Amino acid sequence: MIDARGIPLALYVHLPWCVRKCPYCDFNSHAVPAGGIAEEAYVAALRRDLEFAAPAVAGREIVSVFFGGGTPSLFSAAAIARVLSHARSLLPFAADAEITLEANPGTVEHGRFADYAAAGVNRVSLGAQSFDDAKLATLGRIHGAGDIARAVGELRTAGIDNFNLDLMYALPGQDLQGALDDLDRAIALAPTHVSHYQLTLEPDTPFAKRPPAGLPDDDLAWSMQVECQSLLASAGYEQYEVSGYARPGRRCRHNLVYWEFGDYLGIGAGAHGKVTRRDGKAIERTIRVRHPAAYLAATTAEQRVAEARDVAPADLSFEFCLNALRLVAGFTPQHFEERTGLPVAVLEQPAEQARARGLLERVDGRWRATALGRRFLNDLQEQFLPA
Ligand SMILES: C[S@@+](CC[C@H](N)C(=O)[O-])C[C@H]1O[C@@H](n2cnc3c(N)ncnc32)[C@H](O)[C@@H]1O
Ligand code: SF4
Repeated sequence: MIDARGIPLALYVHLPWCVRKCPYCDFNSHAVPAGGIAEEAYVAALRRDLEFAAPAVAGREIVSVFFGGGTPSLFSAAAIARVLSHARSLLPFAADAEITLEANPGTVEHGRFADYAAAGVNRVSLGAQSFDDAKLATLGRIHGAGDIARAVGELRTAGIDNFNLDLMYALPGQDLQGALDDLDRAIALAPTHVSHYQLTLEPDTPFAKRPPAGLPDDDLAWSMQVECQSLLASAGYEQYEVSGYARPGRRCRHNLVYWEFGDYLGIGAGAHGKVTRRDGKAIERTIRVRHPAAYLAATTAEQRVAEARDVAPADLSFEFCLNALRLVAGFTPQHFEERTGLPVAVLEQPAEQARARGLLERVDGRWRATALGRRFLNDLQEQFLPA
């Protein structure tokens, strides 16, 4: 049995459009249709979706909201405000709720961040990717390096000092120094958080079908990660997750809800949700219909639900480990039991095997990935697959 009231709750809102689709991206994002974004209709659908989702978590407090995409900064501040005010009317918000909006440095008009801040946004995640204009062009980005610095200036003017920069490394034609230079330029903008992702060739993307020339091999990519980690550490950014680095007190609370196996409502096209049932006897996962046109065409809230199912007990410990082992600090047995309702004994055999392979260690009462386990995280996570 799980005590649902003790589990932090977040809200994820998916906004699925981008100016154009980047060739490496397999997120549920779609080029803006010829007639533009159906902003009003989409916001109305989101509001109905919220009304439909809220009863399952009635009375529980929202600790974070994340507007993700796609490119949420294509939406007006008024649209964001309408979603937020509706959420606040349906559910209590923590006084210090973290409210993040993803933004593309190429879509930020002058003054817009101030309007988002007035709507309640207090954290922004900027998709910088690189500070090398040639690399940005190869990645199909709609912005140059200068736009990133300009967007950060706009953020500061708007009083939003809590912001993340997304960077990718192991880019086509990139050498170790190039990856470090990118990071230097990111650090110079003094973000509170850096997400540092290795470029991956996702199945069915244009990059996977026709890989760009000059992709670094695994060893070079690994050296980039190790050297970049040291650079970030020396600049005061502590790694707390596979790709997440933060200044003290600035870890992304929303992502921590995912990785610590908290609950989240997921609304908008293709959004995923996870909610512990009120009686504590099961955890439900939900997925909304993926295509924005289908999401918009739905005439009832039920039609927007593509999938809703309870997680089978046999899958629970794997799902927990999939998330919690991403965290540098790992997890305690007590935390595992509180979030899954399972006895930690179910982990013992796979944990022992992972330990024998040097992928997992137990330190100060916490299970966590070793350095080797972080490098080969998939291998570690697979140890916990249901038999
Ligand atoms: C959902 S995207 C949203 C950010 C925003 N749309 C943008 O790109 O400016 C979140 C981040 O995932 C990362 N990402 C997307 N595709 C990736 C890939 N194939 N490999 C590694 N990182 C990727 C990028 O850094 C991106 O900023
Ligand atoms: S802007 Fe972001 S979400 Fe949109 S296609 Fe590019 S990486 Fe994907």
